[in-house]
Amino acid sequence: MPRVAFDELPATTRQAVTMQTGHIVAAHTAGGGINSAIAALLDTEKGPVFVKGIPTDNPQVASQEREIAISPHLPASCPRLLWHVEAGGWVLLGYEAVDGRHADYTATDDLNLVLVALAELQEVIAPDDIELKTAAERWGKYTEEGQGELFAGDTLLHTDFAPDNVLIHSGRARLIDWAWPTRGAAWIDPFMLALRIMETGATAAQAVSWVQRVPSWRESDPKALGVFATAVTRLWREIAAEDPAPWKVAMAGHAAQLKTHLFVTPWPY
Ligand SMILES: Nc1ncnc2c1ncn2[C@@H]1O[C@H](COP(=O)(O)OP(=O)(O)OP(=O)(O)O)[C@@H](O)[C@H]1O
Ligand SMILES: [Mg+2]
Repeated sequence: MPRVAFDELPATTRQAVTMQTGHIVAAHTAGGGINSAIAALLDTEKGPVFVKGIPTDNPQVASQEREIAISPHLPASCPRLLWHVEAGGWVLLGYEAVDGRHADYTATDDLNLVLVALAELQEVIAPDDIELKTAAERWGKYTEEGQGELFAGDTLLHTDFAPDNVLIHSGRARLIDWAWPTRGAAWIDPFMLALRIMETGATAAQAVSWVQRVPSWRESDPKALGVFATAVTRLWREIAAEDPAPWKVAMAGHAAQLKTHLFVTPWPY
């Protein structure tokens, strides 16, 4: 979706934001991410705020609703959702602004910070008062009958550790973009992080050496990890077959390599 500038939004939409923020002094479009038609840092009377949003008739509205619903349950590493408004045909979310940069998964310091944020998230039990997809619902269809149950758990999972969903600021990693909150086994998030570390050039063994530091990974059932790796590989192959964008084809390759690594390396990996 092409990103529009804040100033291009309908006047009624901008007015609804001004009701929340006070006078808007300046707006700067953010880089990173593709799903939000608008993503901008606003300099306002009440201070800086990050705004993301889409038109109300966009099919991604469901993901915005998930993001709003999960926000009160997120740990401190995640920027606070301050408000959300629907006006002039747009749904906009206003977040605590983080004056940071995207994580660099080739940098040891950044990966250390991401692991700190992940450790905090791993302690969060998925809330049961909101509707959340389970890991079995998301990935079970890519397994043999019934094997999706191997992914079950009570942990709140982020599931999308693309480096542009992590902002580094003041010696902390902040996890953003909760479009896919999921309930499942805790080791799923370290698995997703490993795949994204591979995307920046690491081998499967190098990526695993990072996520091995997460207790849930070390405590996981190797059979469940293997079945999950197979499921994720099938999913990325399906995504890449639908749209062979180079990064999607590459992700399918990384998933296949991680799967092979997990199958050939003796436990503990
Ligand atoms: N709280 C924040 N403070 C400052 N910048 C932010 C904040 N949240 C997000 N951003 C910036 O905006 C970009 C897009 O945000 P986000 O990933 O939440 O939306 P998205 O476009 O829906 O992403 P995707 O296409 O990955 O689903 C981020 O990569 C980041 O650069
Ligand atoms: Mg994003």
